[in-house]
Amino acid sequence: MPQESQQPRRDYKRTLITSALPYANGPVHIGHLAGVYVPADIYARFLRMQGKDVLFIGGSDEHGVPITIKAREEGVTPQDIVDRYHTIIKKSMEGLGISFDIYSRTTSKTHHETASEFFRRLYDKGEFVVKSSMQLYDAEAGEFLADRYVMGTCPHCGNPGAYGDQCEACGTSLAATDLIDPHSRLTSAPVSLKETTHWYLPLDRWEERLRHWILDGHQEWKPNVYGQCKSWLDQGLQPRAVSRDLDWGVPVPVEGAEGKVLYVWFDAPIGYISNTKELLPDSWEQWWKSDDTRLIHFIGKDNIVFHCIIFPTMLMAYGDNFQVPDNVPANEFLNLEGDKISTSRNWAVWAHEYLEDFPGKQDTLRYVLTANAPETKDNDFTWADFQARNNNELVAILGNFVNRAMVLTHKYFEGTVPAAGELHDVDRQMMADVRAAGERLTALWETFHFRDGLKEAMEIARIGNRYLQETEPWKAAKTDMGRTATILNRALQICANIAIAFEPVMPFMAEKLQKMLGMDKPSWEELGSDALVIAGNPIATPELLFEKIDDATIQAQLDRLERIKKENQIKNYKAAPQAPDVDFDTFMKADLRVGTVLECEKVKKSDKLLRFLIDDGLEKRTIVSGIAKYYKPEELVGKQVCFIANLPPRKLKGIESQGMILSAENADGSLVVIGPTAPVVAGAQVK
Ligand code: MF3
Ligand code: ZN
Repeated sequence: MPQESQQPRRDYKRTLITSALPYANGPVHIGHLAGVYVPADIYARFLRMQGKDVLFIGGSDEHGVPITIKAREEGVTPQDIVDRYHTIIKKSMEGLGISFDIYSRTTSKTHHETASEFFRRLYDKGEFVVKSSMQLYDAEAGEFLADRYVMGTCPHCGNPGAYGDQCEACGTSLAATDLIDPHSRLTSAPVSLKETTHWYLPLDRWEERLRHWILDGHQEWKPNVYGQCKSWLDQGLQPRAVSRDLDWGVPVPVEGAEGKVLYVWFDAPIGYISNTKELLPDSWEQWWKSDDTRLIHFIGKDNIVFHCIIFPTMLMAYGDNFQVPDNVPANEFLNLEGDKISTSRNWAVWAHEYLEDFPGKQDTLRYVLTANAPETKDNDFTWADFQARNNNELVAILGNFVNRAMVLTHKYFEGTVPAAGELHDVDRQMMADVRAAGERLTALWETFHFRDGLKEAMEIARIGNRYLQETEPWKAAKTDMGRTATILNRALQICANIAIAFEPVMPFMAEKLQKMLGMDKPSWEELGSDALVIAGNPIATPELLFEKIDDATIQAQLDRLERIKKENQIKNYKAAPQAPDVDFDTFMKADLRVGTVLECEKVKKSDKLLRFLIDDGLEKRTIVSGIAKYYKPEELVGKQVCFIANLPPRKLKGIESQGMILSAENADGSLVVIGPTAPVVAGAQVK
């Protein structure tokens, strides 16, 4: 069994941190942030504060089939697509304070050269095998087709618009060959099969080495990561194709490979190397090829096999002392309001939109995503939780404590840090508690438990609130100003500890707080110290660190999601298949007519039913209809509705209904009453 949180490695001089290169076919969303970029950034900042030598590498993944599909749909080039999203992503990363040392891209010249050379070296060393296979082909376009480029009928649910890799209607993953009547999305031509040749990386040759390295050597990896690796290894590894028939990507640098590019999952991880090279053209090798460098990959769970098995195999096959990762703290997924986040369904909170909607509140998002990080299982982001954590934790606990300590210092000591006198037990105990929380925090973050570590940071603020509650410096001020000075000196030391402990998670707040307290840029080792602010130094007028987020702001976000849900329902609406024929005479027996609504009211003890009194041209009749969720009764009074007059009466909630009002069912299941487009006489027959 894997042992979590074993002692981290100590015999290294450098840490190279990478975070999965996001696909430049859409902006980044909270799922990416919570799973990858925020934890990677916390870790990078945490190590930098310890004075460690750190490099934090990011960039956009700009190849692959989805980008070419998007380009085709929009009638632009793939380069246009990646230019657009690379810019948006880079800007949102900066906006959120993700402190990459470099954020570059896989269409860069350096990357094309590096990936090309990497392939060529494996090729020259005989690390590939060549295989021919039958691939999907569009004879009309003269192109091979990736699974995504094939469309057909889903064998599971009958959806005629299923893609070759997945049916979006029923969610089943498919192989293009499973589809009924598969045809090309390029030309609509039926797909055929054609032979093609590709290069394969024989992972099976490396299986024993991988087993030993991971299963024996890295039992400290997170159970989800270790478990996935073990299951892959236990199933036995197969050779993996590393080239594709496609015209977007890094060309295969071998003669006779025209029209073939490197498979995106071959070139993208090499992007980590290319980007290091771009940043440090002279010293990049030190970061990749020396034993005293530690490599850490931050990724989401769908990337585990690529980072733990395939990329390490590529690195080992290359040789040259390339280092394989020391840890791969992959996260599970974050859902949004109970549903899977999806770029194509626009079901996401987009980073760039958050920055616009919540200016200056980057730290709130970073905090919430860390507090609720999907570290061990999928988690759910809800706007209600976002609001509660901001208002009840950041404002009410952290912000409130700092504000009290600073306001009291202004009130009693004119904004100058007072000197501590003789310490009481309560003061010593409090500092010991802060130190202990700080030590637990350090140990947790060293082992990638960011969420639990954050709780320890918050514990420091809680200790602060309890301390002021217990020592009541405002009471001491009436009798013993020296005691008040000691208490407030201690309280300000706690504030300073907060400014250290939270810096990796909330760098914007930490910087503001450090300035307010007049602190020098602190180092992590100072966490737990009681000499961080110096007696006699001035502190600034306190500004609020966080502000409450009101219900209307949250409601606006929920309304947006509601709108998107509706749009998706309309987009995915499939009209019911036509019913079997009915003979004309039977149909004509139905007495359909128009009536005028005289009265309409809710039926008691029912949230579905409305009771109507209708003028049907002959008399007045009562009809009960299940549309109460979609109309206010008064909206319908005076309107004309279409109804079936000659149905046998039925009792609904004790009321006899004499007929049925016709409504149309919308994509979201809501009902709209059917009536004439211009006024007609009551009792008009529908023909
Ligand atoms: N673009 C991939 C994804 O979003 C991640 C690529 S990570 C890298 O899932 F290692 F290939 F760069
Ligand atoms: Zn289906």
